[in-house]
This record gives sequence, C-alpha cells and structure tokens, in this order.
Amino acid sequence: MFTLACDRAYLFAHPERELTPGEIQRYDEALARRAAGVPAQYITGHQEFWGLDLIVSPAVLIPRPETEHEVEAVLELVSSADSKQSQEQDQRPRTGVSAPHNLRIVDVGTGSGAIAIALAQELPTAEIHATDISPAALEVARANAARHQLTSRIKFHQTDLLRGLPSGEFDLIVSNPPYVGDSEEESVQLEVRKFEPRNAVFAGPTGVEVIGRLIPRAREALRPGGWLVFEISGTIADRVRGLLSDRDWDEVAIRNDLQGIARVAIARKTTKG
Ligand SMILES: C[S@@+](CC[C@H](N)C(=O)[O-])C[C@H]1O[C@@H](n2cnc3c(N)ncnc32)[C@H](O)[C@@H]1O
Repeated sequence: MFTLACDRAYLFAHPERELTPGEIQRYDEALARRAAGVPAQYITGHQEFWGLDLIVSPAVLIPRPETEHEVEAVLELVSSADSKQSQEQDQRPRTGVSAPHNLRIVDVGTGSGAIAIALAQELPTAEIHATDISPAALEVARANAARHQLTSRIKFHQTDLLRGLPSGEFDLIVSNPPYVGDSEEESVQLEVRKFEPRNAVFAGPTGVEVIGRLIPRAREALRPGGWLVFEISGTIADRVRGLLSDRDWDEVAIRNDLQGIARVAIARKTTKG
C-alpha cells in the first residue's frame, strides 16, 4: 500500500498488477529500513489514532492505541457532566466539567497532536490548547491539525508544560507526558530507544520527574473542580497516587488499559481552599 500509494481494496482488486522497477526499488528500500529496526510508521510517515490518519516523523512519538483511553476518559467526564446538568436543570451548582460550549482544554506534550486533534474533533465547541517543548514536534502537530481542518480550533504553544498559560481558567488538562525512568531503559523496546525522541519517552532517573512538575502546574491552571487526566504506567502508578494529595485533589482514580495495566490517572482539583 505504501509503495503504490493505494488502499487495501486496490491491492485485492488488482492482483495482476506488476511492480515497475521504481516501485520495486521503493519497496526494497522500505524493507531494508524496517529490517534495520526503523518503526514502520516512520517509514510510511503515518499512524492512525482515534480513527484519524496522522502524519508522524522521528520528531514525534508514534501515538499508541492505549493513549486513546485518555481521550475516552475526557469524553466520559464531559458527557457525565452534561447529563448531570440536564437532570439538575441548572438549579444546583455544577459538579462536573462544564458543558462542551464552555470547555477550555489543554493537551500538555502534544507531540503529533494526537490527543488535541481527537478532542477538537469530538468536542466541536471546546477551546483547545496544545503545548510541547519541542518546536519540531509542534510543526508536525500543526501539520496534522491542518490536514484535519482543525487549525482554527487548536492554539499551539511552544513551552515547558503549562508555562505562560493563564491560571485558574481551564476545565480539563490532559497529557501523555514522558514517564519512563532512566533505570527502566533496558526494559524499553530497542526500537523505541533507538528511534523515538528521547525527551518524549524518558522523564529522568525515576520516571516521575515530569509528572511531579505537571501536577502542581495543572492545579494552578485548572479552575476549582477542573479535571486532570494523564497517562501513566503500572511501574509508577503507586508513586503517582502519592503525588495526588488529598489536600489538592478529589476523586482520584487510576484506570487500567485493555491489558489490565494501570494507564490513566484522573483527579479533580478540589473546590475547597
Ligand atoms: C509521550 S510523548 C506524547 C505525545 C502525544 N501526546 C501522544 O500521546 O502521542 C510526550 C511529549 O511531551 C513533550 N515534552 C516533554 N517534556 C516536556 C515539557 N517539559 N513540556 C512540554 N512538553 C514536553 C515531548 O516533546 C513529547 O512530544
């Protein structure tokens, strides 16, 4: 499909099609790169996320299917707040995320733009911000937003975590931050270590360095009652729970992915104090 720039249906419909010498060369080159360990997505330049075709380059992490759980968690929070609001007919104070037309969301460490783009598409009236420390990653994210006609919906910021964004204004902060510790390096797939951006994967010696900074900054940027949703691994789940203190956060939950591994941390900024 990559060599012929065609879809699967074309391949099945044209078994008689012979490759030209140029196509054979393109195929052989792709195969040689794959044999050298280059992830297929960096060879083809594409990866699907949340049913959307995204461009990827070695400047960005290849979006993973388990990260879709974060998008699901955000959408659940939004829809549960919606149904609560209609039941309460706005008589009582809001207890969840405000309605989609009010939502202000930040995706921290957007990489290819995967989460921000999925949310912009699912929540057509939400205001979406996306940050990344890497200018090269943001270029890819902007290109992906443009491909999906979402440029006007997402404001990109090159910054460290949430620096420069207003305090106390956001309803939801979502992130798939780097969370692998240097000490776990040997257990990370060679392909990841060799080809994916190091600052997208590794957080520092223990793995919770970026999350440890994200939690207090997110608390500052969220409005009281706003939600923080971020990706974790089983290795750091207990430490993450410890970082989400009772004084600052309510309704702390950790959800597993389809393999039963702790994957999504959810916490609500306390409305007290
Ligand atoms: C694990 S990748 C996630 C990419 C994308 N959100 C996804 O889920 O596929 C982490 C991203 O965070 C960015 N990053 C790392 N440290 C950061 C920081 N201090 N501030 C903002 N972004 C950071 C990296 O450049 C990388 O794009």
